[in-house]
Amino acid sequence: MDPTLLSILRCPRCGAGGSLTGARALACAACGLEIARDGYLDLLDPNRAGEPATSTEQRLMESLVVARIYERLWRPTFVRLLAGRGAGGAVGGFAGELFIHKHTLAIDDRPGPWLDLSCGTGLFVRALAAAAPGSLVVGLDIARAMLEVAERRTKGYGNVALIRGDAHTLPFIDGAFTGINNVGALHVYDDVEQVFREVWRVLKPGALYVGSTFAEAPSLFGKVAARLAGIRRFEPDQLRGQLARVGLGEFESLPLGGAFIFRARKL
Ligand SMILES: C[S@@+](CC[C@H](N)C(=O)[O-])C[C@H]1O[C@@H](n2cnc3c(N)ncnc32)[C@H](O)[C@@H]1O
Repeated sequence: MDPTLLSILRCPRCGAGGSLTGARALACAACGLEIARDGYLDLLDPNRAGEPATSTEQRLMESLVVARIYERLWRPTFVRLLAGRGAGGAVGGFAGELFIHKHTLAIDDRPGPWLDLSCGTGLFVRALAAAAPGSLVVGLDIARAMLEVAERRTKGYGNVALIRGDAHTLPFIDGAFTGINNVGALHVYDDVEQVFREVWRVLKPGALYVGSTFAEAPSLFGKVAARLAGIRRFEPDQLRGQLARVGLGEFESLPLGGAFIFRARKL
């Protein structure tokens, strides 16, 4: 197993850092927990592993059918519906979105490791891994179905590790990452401020946190759809305040239709 990965992991049961050892299967040297490895490492807290998803959207993310059509059909349809054409079209669809995130993270200029938080099927993991071939790129998600698809699609990238975990209690030591990318997931977290506290904790001092999320829907149809689906919306100023409260400052944002990209730095 990648030594950089082993050095930044934290046991999901006892919280010991750097305690997971083993070549293929892992075990915690501090508490004896055995970790399943099924293409991805399952580092969800074993006390929480059986809990069902709380939202309808998250239950859908656990479906292999949705995971398989996610990149080509599901994601583009929902981004268009909830954020309008400007979210991707104005900058070349996916390619533009990927470019903006890589550029905003300044990934070409710095060594990793990098985290793609709530990586889904690995769309951004692949882009980040290609942009930083000498660095470790970790993709973390809570949904098994998403990770199964991500695993297939990242085969052949020697610098990718996939982890099942919860954004609210990240299985990494303090100061593990040079940068975190977090696309289209703030609206699904149960406690977004807890996720921000964890983001702050696992970033190195001065490191960047880049993400995107939905603002107010541009069309009446989009507004109704968002309301029905229970999609939480953010405004840049509200987000600036939430991030500042946990110590993520120098906030910048860029509107993209009814969505926006943001960047903040661990102070
Ligand atoms: C809309 S998808 C975005 C996926 C990917 N970032 C993208 O842009 O293609 C939201 C993702 O957040 C994940 N997610 C939801 N709750 C999570 C949690 N508590 N911890 C980690 N990931 C979570 C879902 O499983 C899903 O893959």
